[in-house]
Amino acid sequence: MEKKNIDWANLGFGYHDTDKRFVANYKNGAWDEGALVSDATVQINECAGVLQYAQTCFEGMKAYTTQDGHIVTFRPDLNAQRMEDSCRRLEMPVFPKERFVKAVIDTVAANEAYVPPYGSGATLYIRPYMFGSSSVIGVKPADEYQFRVFTTPVGPYFKGGVKPLTIKVSDFDRAAPHGTGHIKAGLNYAMSLHAIVTAHEEGYDENMYLDAATRTNVEETGGANFLFVTKDNKIVTPKSDSILPSITRRSLMVVAKDYLGLEVEERVVPFEEVKEFAECGLCGTAAVISPVGRIVDHGREITFSSGMNEMGPITKKLYDTLTGIQMGRIEAPEGWIQVIK
Ligand code: PLP
Ligand code: COI
Repeated sequence: MEKKNIDWANLGFGYHDTDKRFVANYKNGAWDEGALVSDATVQINECAGVLQYAQTCFEGMKAYTTQDGHIVTFRPDLNAQRMEDSCRRLEMPVFPKERFVKAVIDTVAANEAYVPPYGSGATLYIRPYMFGSSSVIGVKPADEYQFRVFTTPVGPYFKGGVKPLTIKVSDFDRAAPHGTGHIKAGLNYAMSLHAIVTAHEEGYDENMYLDAATRTNVEETGGANFLFVTKDNKIVTPKSDSILPSITRRSLMVVAKDYLGLEVEERVVPFEEVKEFAECGLCGTAAVISPVGRIVDHGREITFSSGMNEMGPITKKLYDTLTGIQMGRIEAPEGWIQVIK
């Protein structure tokens, strides 16, 4: 298979049209068979549920070329489960988990020419998503839905690759208690746009959201969970019912414990404790692990001892082990790697 002529090493995190995408439609209470199609355009009624009341959710995954030349993806069963959770919370029909995984595999296989080569620093980002496609004008769930999967080759989510980030403690809230912070609803991202644009205008890379109820505990950023390292090398990650259960973070906790022999804690993290940590990182499919060098809370700066030039040593070990597993350099725990080709 001849790869496309793309400058893989200089790809940013953007949309790049690929050859095929998967589309399935839900009508009269059932999903159709679905198919891979060439047209990247979606045509829906002006009054579609997604356009009027934001009835949509999505997932984010990646396909990797391994050291020995296979194409694989990482823990797709967990994305399928999380999408099911999102759909239930948004009164959308569930796309069966086995069909979700098959649709992902088929879409990646059909776009093999766009899967970045091993060692290029790029990956193929996979975006499964669903939306209410039939018209609704009274506030209620749509009757018809579309489930789609597209792919796009990507480089690092943050410009500058692994250069430590500067984070702003946001004045805005991301998710309310008992709201939708724990699912991957499009609406969570729509309402974070003003906060991220404001943060970027002020020179920050990302926002740290605190819990909306008390504004005392660390939640997450707009697109990744936090991970901290204590001065005695313990891994600490915030526990909250209003953050997205990151698959990367859950995997890193296993990597830390079973591969690196580190102690791990998932617990409430008061913001006041953050200055005590030695390292900080953002973790997610897009972010992988992006190091944080500094957090600014209304003029008060916290700079981690790992500094502003490179990843902290423990963060680096986590990064190397996780990406080693994903790229086939390190043996994966049972069931983590789904071979596509
Ligand atoms: N938190 C938010 C708000 C996200 O959008 C994402 C991205 O998917 C994550 C965390 C990281 O989750 P995952 O590791 O499953 O990609
Ligand atoms: C991902 O990491 O896959 C996400 O969905 C985060 C998004 C902000 C790109």
